[in-house]
Amino acid sequence: METILVTGGAGFIGSNFIRFVLSNFKEYQVINLDFLTYAGNLSNLKDVETDKKYKFIFGDISDKKIFERLPKNIDYIINFAAESHVDRSIQEAGIFLKTNVLGTLNLLEHARSISIKKFIQVSTDEVYGSLDETGKFSETTNLSPNNPYSASKASADLFVNSYHKTHEVPANITRCSNNYGPYQFPEKLIPLTIMRALNDQEIPVYGDGTNIRDWIHVEDHARGIMTVLQKGKIGEIYNIGGGNEIQNINLVKSILSQLNKPFDLISFVEDRKGHDKRYAIDFRKIHEKLSWSPKIDFKKGLENTVQWYKNNIDWIRNIQDGSYLKIREQFFKG
Ligand code: NAD
Ligand code: TYD
Repeated sequence: METILVTGGAGFIGSNFIRFVLSNFKEYQVINLDFLTYAGNLSNLKDVETDKKYKFIFGDISDKKIFERLPKNIDYIINFAAESHVDRSIQEAGIFLKTNVLGTLNLLEHARSISIKKFIQVSTDEVYGSLDETGKFSETTNLSPNNPYSASKASADLFVNSYHKTHEVPANITRCSNNYGPYQFPEKLIPLTIMRALNDQEIPVYGDGTNIRDWIHVEDHARGIMTVLQKGKIGEIYNIGGGNEIQNINLVKSILSQLNKPFDLISFVEDRKGHDKRYAIDFRKIHEKLSWSPKIDFKKGLENTVQWYKNNIDWIRNIQDGSYLKIREQFFKG
């Protein structure tokens, strides 16, 4: 049995990743190290918490002392832990530097001190900046982050690369496009739109709504990361994308139509500062070298996602009334 240390496993992608691993692979056990920030929610993992191959450890990756409490026999480290919301980074960037950069550095130091098979940094296409109408991001596109979130993720990527080159930490970096699916914190566009539409509240669309994102279902992302874990060549960067480019306004309209809600809920609001116009991922490398490609059809995936939020209103209510944060207080009390 091999051991995967997942950081940030109580968040959106991390929790879906853990569920994916435990239900599809017998040969791995998972340790989830998470600080349960506002974005961390252990109820995302309710169905696996009694699984003997799963263990939760409460801790902050930007605090070096946490690593003394971790078991030494770790085979893989996958770093999902991050501050992940662009709008928050525009308000207050310091915590992005602390968690995303210092936290990654601490993990790399820990990886050096124990001998691991692979370190995977879960990065983002946002490190490449913004595209005009044409072209796509490839792994050789220059890093050109435009907001504090993407700047912190790009910095972390540079540290990962430097620890691979200097200290021979066996690492891969994955850079994925916008994810959607169950358990996404309702500050991000898709769950925010669903939640507000269900409550007949206005949907804020930034600027003129023509910004484009390239969406991928979170399960396809999870499978991409496992593909890199098992087959990725040490030292390489792999882009992961869904091949589903859509303007924000059309995405919002499509969700409203599905929920039978009127388009006049849409409210065009002031644009995000430094708003990246378009993201699009060229994922030929992971497809050609590692035989991965996205499987989930966007229309079907979006329909199922909207249905999931409708079926899990309590999950959203617990976030809205703050009751999901109570569990964190228990960990602080010890
Ligand atoms: P999220 O905000 O939903 O979850 C982040 C998790 O990290 C939470 O569980 C939180 O408690 C934990 N965390 C935060 N600070 C921590 C700390 N100091 N120590 C330990 N745990 C901490 O984020 P997400 O959307 O699941 O994204 C996960 C990763 O994937 C991030 O690194 C993000 O940059 C990357 N990514 C996200 C997307 C996307 O569309 N959401 C796309 C590409 C890459
Ligand atoms: P978001 O889900 O925050 O992801 P990211 O900024 O990482 O791409 O936003 C997706 C797109 O939707 C982005 O172009 C900003 C836009 N957006 C809105 O128009 N309104 C909103 O309320 C939010 C949260 C995002």
